[in-house]
Amino acid sequence: MRPIGIFDSGIGGLTVARAISQRFPNHPLIYFGDTAHLPFGEKSPELIRHYATRITKELVKKDCAAIVVACNSASSNALDEVRMAAGHSVPVIDVIYPVVESVSREFVGDVVGVIGTRATIDSGWYQRLLAEKGCTVKSKVTPLLASAIEEGFHEGRISTALIEEYLTDDFYEGITALVLGCTHYPLISDQIQRVLPPGVKIVDSAEVVADELNQLDPAIFSEVVELDATHRPLRRFIVSDLTQSFQRGAERFFGSPVILEELKLSEHEGP
Ligand code: DGL
Repeated sequence: MRPIGIFDSGIGGLTVARAISQRFPNHPLIYFGDTAHLPFGEKSPELIRHYATRITKELVKKDCAAIVVACNSASSNALDEVRMAAGHSVPVIDVIYPVVESVSREFVGDVVGVIGTRATIDSGWYQRLLAEKGCTVKSKVTPLLASAIEEGFHEGRISTALIEEYLTDDFYEGITALVLGCTHYPLISDQIQRVLPPGVKIVDSAEVVADELNQLDPAIFSEVVELDATHRPLRRFIVSDLTQSFQRGAERFFGSPVILEELKLSEHEGP
């Protein structure tokens, strides 16, 4: 059975990987965290495209049957390039279109808040897609949140201070839903929920992306798992730089030891 390839800059995409592995418990996954280059959200669109393309090529080389771009910064800036690198036979799922579809079904005509990295919000992608679906959008760049979460600062004073700094009363005013436009943010969604006015619904990409994957050609998912002549683990975690923060973050996230493989992405292709 060919694996599903999932990538992000760091641990954020694990929120999506977990939802996928819960939905397809016997399907092999390869998770790639580009730890050598995070945060993506502070990079130029050109550099994000370059990283996303290289990662995609690696996942295709590893024979992935589908690619999930578990990163809003890459989904909003590099989706065409990822599709090109994946080729026609490997479907690509991003984290933005499925969320926009789901939000617009529930909140059409409403004011919807979106928070995300600079790269995501500056791309205008959520704003445009949600407006096309009949939502009014309030967006906000929350640049330090992903890095703080990556460093393990969640459920504590630092993330609380950042949330209070970024999410002020006038931002909340009138919104009925808040889209977490960065896959790191579900790790602090309880904290965010606590500062939101009652009744505002938080939307993140994990479950809707797993739903989207479910819509793909069933042939990808229907084969019986053979465990396994090579004893290859069902879930592989590859990083471009073996960092303690990813190791700790992933283990905290899964609540069990995680074995990391390192794959240095070649620098010579140039952005
Ligand atoms: N989790 C990613 C996103 O959804 C990237 C965060 C970052 O590396 O800045 O945008």
